[in-house]
Amino acid sequence: MLAIIVAIGPHNLIGKGNDLPWHYSEDLKYFKKVTMGKSVFMGYNTFLSIFGRLGKPLPNRKNYVLTYEETLPGGAIPIHDLKELPDEDIFVIGGKMIYEMMLPHAEYLYITHINKEYDGDVFFPEIPYENYDLISSEVSGDLNFCVYKKKTL
Ligand SMILES: NC(=O)c1ccc[n+]([C@@H]2O[C@H](COP(=O)([O-])OP(=O)(O)OC[C@H]3O[C@@H](n4cnc5c(N)ncnc54)[C@H](OP(=O)(O)O)[C@@H]3O)[C@@H](O)[C@H]2O)c1
Repeated sequence: MLAIIVAIGPHNLIGKGNDLPWHYSEDLKYFKKVTMGKSVFMGYNTFLSIFGRLGKPLPNRKNYVLTYEETLPGGAIPIHDLKELPDEDIFVIGGKMIYEMMLPHAEYLYITHINKEYDGDVFFPEIPYENYDLISSEVSGDLNFCVYKKKTL
């Protein structure tokens, strides 16, 4: 099972420079709850930003990183080609390049819709919502935690 997890603002905004445009601790808690104990897959920039913040990869999760590097610190697993990804439940956690690459392959989309305008310059690709069923939605303040499942054709 392949799932994307992402926080998306108006106009598909997801980033500002190398950072998030917003800070919602409730969304960070949700991210932790959903991904804890699972495998996560990210691009090299996202890995560097997590490593810069925590001094280690995301704890209690297997961290796969798409990179040209041969080795990575802290036990993160370098992936050089999508074909190297093992057949297991994986959450794709960004950034932009990796989301673009993985959107066509993801069965589930865990989207936190941020219903407030922010400045930023990094955007998620257009989502063909007609190809997905909304299976859950929970509103909390500016946030709407949604899970979508791809329709079987
Ligand atoms: N809103 C959210 O939920 C969310 C979540 C995560 C990230 N973001 C945002 O996304 C932005 C970062 O996105 P990004 O596109 O810059 O970073 P990214 O997707 O994390 O990483 C891109 C990097 O991955 C490596 N890579 C890509 N394709 C590869 C391939 N085929 N083989 C080997 N390595 C490959 C390259 O690294 P090198 O060329 O350097 O080796 C590339 O520069 C930030 O603004 C961040 O805040 C938002």
